[in-house]
Amino acid sequence: MELIAIGSDHGGFHLKEKVKAYLMEKGYKVLDMGTESEASVDYPDYAEKVAKAVQAGEVDLGILICGTGIGMAITANKIPGVRAAVVHDAYTAEMSRRHNNANVITFGGRVVGLGVAFSIVDAWLRNRFEGGRHARRLGKIEALESQER
Ligand code: RB5
Repeated sequence: MELIAIGSDHGGFHLKEKVKAYLMEKGYKVLDMGTESEASVDYPDYAEKVAKAVQAGEVDLGILICGTGIGMAITANKIPGVRAAVVHDAYTAEMSRRHNNANVITFGGRVVGLGVAFSIVDAWLRNRFEGGRHARRLGKIEALESQER
């Protein structure tokens, strides 16, 4: 079973707590990297922690929840080797794994309800990267990343 880091800002705090409990019930090991309350914080700080843990191989995968998922994805994608996808439902979560090999997913605590959030993590964890033509495309993304460094 994968080790999963999870993080949120205040906009995703309550949903993070529920998703964490859901994953632990299913037997996953979860590393909670904050935030710890509804108090207002800056989402880049939590995206950075989770994305760097994924980059370093300290965890296998990461989940980031803010109000919309957007700020978390923008930030996490600044960390080389991280492929963060904003997902909205089980279908986008499934495809983010099968085609994009997303090692981080992000979603919005103000966008998705509890049932959709659980279906998102189920779909993402159940599916695997398909490789083939999709691996070639990821190679092109990696090439861009090294040009920027
Ligand atoms: C915080 O109000 C909000 O901007 C943040 O949670 C997130 O939605 C940013 O993308």
